[in-house]
Amino acid sequence: MHSTREPYLLTPGPLTTSLAVKQAMLRDWGSWDHDFNDLTASICWRLLRVAHAEDRFVCVPLQGSGTYAVEATLATLVPHDGKALVLMNGAYGQRMAKIMRYLNRPLVTLDMGDYLPPPPARVDEMLADDPAITHVAVVHCETSSGILNPVEEIAEVVVARRGRRLIIDAMSAFGALPFDARQLPCDAIVASANKCFEGVPGFGFALINQQILEECAGNAHSLSLDLYDQWRYMERTRQWRFTPPTHTVAAFAQALDEHEIEGGVTGRLARYSANRDLLVSGMRAMWFHTLLSDRWLSPIIVTFHSPGDPRFDFPTFYGLIKEQGFIIYPGKLTEVESFRIGCIGQLFAEQMRGVLAAVRTALDEMEIPDGTPRPDDLRKIDF
Ligand SMILES: Cc1ncc(COP(=O)(O)O)c(C=O)c1O
Repeated sequence: MHSTREPYLLTPGPLTTSLAVKQAMLRDWGSWDHDFNDLTASICWRLLRVAHAEDRFVCVPLQGSGTYAVEATLATLVPHDGKALVLMNGAYGQRMAKIMRYLNRPLVTLDMGDYLPPPPARVDEMLADDPAITHVAVVHCETSSGILNPVEEIAEVVVARRGRRLIIDAMSAFGALPFDARQLPCDAIVASANKCFEGVPGFGFALINQQILEECAGNAHSLSLDLYDQWRYMERTRQWRFTPPTHTVAAFAQALDEHEIEGGVTGRLARYSANRDLLVSGMRAMWFHTLLSDRWLSPIIVTFHSPGDPRFDFPTFYGLIKEQGFIIYPGKLTEVESFRIGCIGQLFAEQMRGVLAAVRTALDEMEIPDGTPRPDDLRKIDF
């Protein structure tokens, strides 16, 4: 059965947005006009409130995708004579390490492979052994496997015990997972418009401890990625330094209204968790296996092992599911075949049941009895 509607995106962003968010883009804005400046000021203020960070943090938005904001934050906050420890357990941790290499900043990594969480005790040892490390960078929800990394314990070790600085890539977590800057000591968290706040792509933002940012003049290697300069300019003029993504900002203001109406982080976490629970139990009923045990499963995106049946082929599976109106996501593991299904965006029980039915139909059409993985693939996974 071919679906005629626009497919639902069961991906980690860009994601399915509400009609009102899309409609908010039907107006043109003067980028210097005070109406637009008010809009920018209000989204910054509201983001700080979500993080309970109004007192000590500032919000610096930046044009571009999430990676631009991550790169800008690392470039602005880590000085030339600093040294970073990047915690990696997937593509986004690896990307931060790559950024640091591009920036020519000294770097060490703790590489846990595809999906194992970075152990706080190991981080503690590395910091004790190397006093030159000034900054630690970690991903909150590592979207490549869906694992929720233990950022609270890591912050405890990095900041409270060892007095180093912490930068969190919370791209796919902020807005749905509780984050309280009063409790979780860090220098900056970075996210973007098109993840758990359910806006459209076009800008990212960093919430940065103001006292720290004040010391960061001249650190960045790049004018357009200099968050210190962007912040100072915005403070002075209320404007973005260069052409802002006006329509995306307007859509984001609407998305923030909807986030609030849903009950903020608590409401969103409840819906995404319910989506995940429905998805995981329905997939397990078809004998699919999740990569991660329940303790590490995020309510953002779930990785499943591919079925071991020799007739399984991801592009065909993907195409059959898309025909039924749902877009899923390929896997990103290096050792075993996998695919991912997201729980975020304008998705509710109806869509989760819909994707489960689409998976069942796709298996039937491929003459695959169920999702049982290859035993070897399960053995390779050591958790
Ligand atoms: C944790 C994390 N960091 C960084 C990014 C990069 O964001 P973008 O693809 O918007 O550049 C993503 C994107 O999914 C992500 O999930």
